[in-house]
Amino acid sequence: MFEELLRQWDGEEVVVRHDRETGTWIFVCVHSTALGPAMGGTRMKQYGSPAEALEDGLRLAGGMTRKLAIAGLPCGGGKAVLAVPEPLDGHARRALLERYGDLIQALGGTYVTGPDVNTGETDMDAIGSRTSHVFCRSAENGGSGDPSIHTALGTFHGIRAALRHVHGDDEMTGRKVLVQGTGSVGAKLTRLLLDAGAVVLVTDVDEERARATGAETVSADGALELECDVYAPCALGATLTAESIPKLRCRIVAGAANNQLATPEDGERLRAAGILYAPDFVINAGGALHGIGLEQLGWDTAELDRRVEGIGDTLTRIFEAAEAEGITTDEAAERLAAERLRAAGTTMQLH
Ligand code: PHE
Repeated sequence: MFEELLRQWDGEEVVVRHDRETGTWIFVCVHSTALGPAMGGTRMKQYGSPAEALEDGLRLAGGMTRKLAIAGLPCGGGKAVLAVPEPLDGHARRALLERYGDLIQALGGTYVTGPDVNTGETDMDAIGSRTSHVFCRSAENGGSGDPSIHTALGTFHGIRAALRHVHGDDEMTGRKVLVQGTGSVGAKLTRLLLDAGAVVLVTDVDEERARATGAETVSADGALELECDVYAPCALGATLTAESIPKLRCRIVAGAANNQLATPEDGERLRAAGILYAPDFVINAGGALHGIGLEQLGWDTAELDRRVEGIGDTLTRIFEAAEAEGITTDEAAERLAAERLRAAGTTMQLH
């Protein structure tokens, strides 16, 4: 399984470690350093098998290369997965993150990490006690802090761009948006949408968390079949599949989750169904812009806000290119990423 996954992957290298103390499999996936050091968050999660974790890391790392190239940042793409056998907290979690920090340090800057699903500021502080190759530590420890508001803001601008493309205006009042997943990003996105006057339906496996947003909660089963203007996937997993797409009753899919399409063909399925899809690795770049922009590129918050707003303009370009060329928005985004890599003088082929 490992052999097959690695042979088929188009990335540069994977560093594997089994952490004996906690039984955690660590995969640091360096997809591309063509534009600069590989950057991307660390995901901590329980997986069905180590191979499943590796597969997730490989795919997410490829998404980071595309995301950062399209965002115009001088960075490559990578991702790390900590496949824990059970949820970890307290001392065991901190100790694992310190050992993981040593591993990142040993890579000498090839890979720079940041937060991702189930890791946050405190975790980045723990990693940062062993290496400086980490974004989004707490302000007390010299970092830029939790980036999730900027991921949510970028997604909000992306939703507006999608509405403009479909309806000619981005008026939110009365528009119905289904937010699936009310974790750190989904909850903040829900707040932005409610403040802008949208009608928001939320669903989460953790019902308490969904209720805390103040929006109307709906049960997870059948949620995707609800009629709405925008479906915003902000949870885990590829929710756009051959089974789910025919059931969707929305005009737009635009959310913050990574890896929303189960397969590239699902991009075509959406297009055929007349649903405008905002490619995940374009719309969710706000968190990366926060960490990398503030800490590495010396942006002030005004510049960061400008760049995050720019995600909407980038999406508009992608929507228009897809339409003009009769291709999916996902393909149009792929082409843009490949162009950026080519313009930088690399011959790397994304596939
Ligand atoms: N993990 C987030 C993403 O998928 C954000 C992030 C990346 C934050 C890199 C900081 C640095 O884009």
